[in-house]
Amino acid sequence: MSRELIVSKIENGTVIDHIPAGRALAVLRVLGITGKEGVRVALVMNVESGKLGRKDIVKIEGRELTPEEVNIISAVAPTATINIIRNFEVVKKFKVSPPEVIKGRFRCKNPTCITNAPREPVEPTFYLVRREPPLFICAYCGRYHELSDLL
Ligand code: CTP
Ligand code: ZN
Repeated sequence: MSRELIVSKIENGTVIDHIPAGRALAVLRVLGITGKEGVRVALVMNVESGKLGRKDIVKIEGRELTPEEVNIISAVAPTATINIIRNFEVVKKFKVSPPEVIKGRFRCKNPTCITNAPREPVEPTFYLVRREPPLFICAYCGRYHELSDLL
């Protein structure tokens, strides 16, 4: 397959597959991976995919991400599949699903929300109120947010 010509298989770690094309950098941003952690990360962008037309892939070597850690990426990559790799084999595969609570990663879109006030040490917090399609409510002002509003 053509994508294998770009980046080889990894021995241990996590492969985030089926990311909508062009979203790989957003996935890394949401995961808080900057490249300064010292872990080896491979990005594959705009490769052919049967299901999606084109897709991105992120491979993180030596780190097994947990569902709690990766569910946050459903905000930018709801189609993503997480593959846990050990000894070159896929030992676990799961789809991301929207988290019940999101803390501190996105801003509330209500400009008068206390989480947007300067000098207020309030961490933006959103609760999932509907799963399909995902809908979140700001814990502080009650404003509803779809995933696209959080980005
Ligand atoms: N992969 C990898 N290193 C490994 C094993 C797998 O980088 N040692 C990558 C593959 O390149 C692929 C993803 O992990 O992008 C999932 O691998 P696999 O389940 O073997 O592929 P598919 O069957 O095509 O996956 P799916 O059914 O989820 O599309
Ligand atoms: Zn708010």
